[in-house]
Amino acid sequence: MKSEAEQFEKVPTTIYASAGEASRVLAVEVASLIRKKQAESKHAVLGLATGSTPVPFYRELIRLHREEGLSFQNVLTFNLDEYFGLEPTHRESYFRFMREQLFDHVDLPSSQIHIPPGTVSRDRVFEACQEYEAEIERAGGIDLQILGIGRTGHIGFNEPGSSMESRTRMITLDGITREDAARDFQGIENVPRFALTMGVGTIMNARRIVLMAWGENKADIVRQAVEGEVTDAISASFLQKHANAQFLLDAGASQSLTRVRYPWLVGTATWDRSLIRRAVTWLSAKLKKPVLKLLDEDYNEHGMSDLLTEHGPAYQLNIRIFNELQHTITGWPGGKPQEDDRYRPERALPFPKRSLVIAPEPSDELRAMGGTIDRLVEQGHSVDVLFLTSGNLGVSDDAAEHFADVLKELAATRSSSAWKEPVRYAGQLLDDLEAKGPFGEDNQSLRGIKGLLRRGEARHALRATGLDESRIHFLDLPFYENGRYRRFHPQEDDQEALREALTKFRPHQIYMTGNASDPSSVGGVCFSIFRQVMEKVAKRKWRQDCRVWLYRSNEKPLGVYEIDMAVPMSPDQLKHKVKAVSLYATEELSTGQRDRAVARYYDQLGLANYEAIEAFRAW
Ligand code: GLP
Repeated sequence: MKSEAEQFEKVPTTIYASAGEASRVLAVEVASLIRKKQAESKHAVLGLATGSTPVPFYRELIRLHREEGLSFQNVLTFNLDEYFGLEPTHRESYFRFMREQLFDHVDLPSSQIHIPPGTVSRDRVFEACQEYEAEIERAGGIDLQILGIGRTGHIGFNEPGSSMESRTRMITLDGITREDAARDFQGIENVPRFALTMGVGTIMNARRIVLMAWGENKADIVRQAVEGEVTDAISASFLQKHANAQFLLDAGASQSLTRVRYPWLVGTATWDRSLIRRAVTWLSAKLKKPVLKLLDEDYNEHGMSDLLTEHGPAYQLNIRIFNELQHTITGWPGGKPQEDDRYRPERALPFPKRSLVIAPEPSDELRAMGGTIDRLVEQGHSVDVLFLTSGNLGVSDDAAEHFADVLKELAATRSSSAWKEPVRYAGQLLDDLEAKGPFGEDNQSLRGIKGLLRRGEARHALRATGLDESRIHFLDLPFYENGRYRRFHPQEDDQEALREALTKFRPHQIYMTGNASDPSSVGGVCFSIFRQVMEKVAKRKWRQDCRVWLYRSNEKPLGVYEIDMAVPMSPDQLKHKVKAVSLYATEELSTGQRDRAVARYYDQLGLANYEAIEAFRAW
């Protein structure tokens, strides 16, 4: 039975505090399915997915295998999809992914593994797909199908337009899907254009389906799939028609569901401060009316009469929220010395402050808060920027090649024998690049060079903010330097390195990001390390006097109701920021639009009309 709060949801949906928790619950379910089938001397047939999402679930299965003796001897697996044209050994093939993430760590016989054959020749594709379907049928159908969800709402690779009856077939990948895979493939040009995927119909035939989604970036597409119409524009929405499908979400991915975002629409809401602000800003946006012009009837007609009873009338409530929003705006992110700070986001003292800007990867800091860094420096605070990783995974082969070419050219114009070594080195670099090709894995020396390039850029870009070079620090956390996208294994030494750095800086304020990211992304991993370290240092004196401000880099921007500090920028300041960000030449970035959009929201609420705003949330 659905609860009142779930009335908008058309498919059973469970929200967990974290991806880890949800994954553990699912692993328990899968383990009991496997054991039940074992007891009946039958196979358990699992449909498996790739991507970052199922990674914590696979880790939990491996743990159950190692520590609790769960055997996979009676399991048959069918993966959803595979890129067309990739050898099973290719480092981005789903075959290799599955081996690294699960198969190599459990006792699943390789003859029981099925993955659509990415290397079949074009003229055999249809036949091979039919064979895949037949194989699933011979296995007796899929008992439990695991799914993630792509940003286009796809399941497997069933891009928009896939029909509910579609079967295993070849598909052209959507532009957004290829963009999302670009990092894994070190550039969008390397991402395959086609894939083989189970069809929606194939998936719907499974006896049970569980779709997992983590992080705020998935929140909007999840809402459309769970609460919207069934449409082939979002293939995950077809799950509404399945008799035994379920969505498992973490807190981030659940954020756009009506019961979470607009709880007053689905029952009696507990009107705490943050909910009130959310409701009032929502109403103002919906009615396209500034906050101060909202009327009692506006509230009453939108399910908020209890809000008025508790906190009304509208006139009073409007003023209160207007003031609250007004007080989030400050040109003094480090606090304004010698001023009454009761209504300012940051306290006046101590002054100057030790401000520590932490960036998971270079460019996060400038994109999200270049203007704020400018101001902090200008206003005399002691600002340090701490990069947790070198960002070398984001540097293209082209950039490394360019560097080697320049080095060679330069050396060729110098006669001194001191240049022999650089020339040799450049040659080696070019050889390494050629040997590995576009799909190969970077060796340590190549990663080293890419890291150097990235650091150079970071220094160059940050200099534009007036920050002294001695204030830029690189921590090179081991999880990143030894790992790669979707395959990060953070450990004790990561926490230790960050703890040491924080203890050294003893900041009065920290700027950090990643809490809204997918937990297995660089930002997500960094934030979880940060959270653990902050728990460890909770009793330290500096910690008790330290505020943490969360910013958003490439994740979903903060909603206006979530903003606790809004730092406005003039057109010139914005221009300056965009210029600084563009100095990160090895990555394509678009800055400015988002900052402008935040300013527009403030304007629509009836607050001052700024050119742009950088937004922060108190942790
Ligand atoms: C790819 C896969 C999907 C997966 C999606 C989301 O498109 N074919 O099966 O659900 O990516 O990936 P992630 O879990 O990394 O967000």
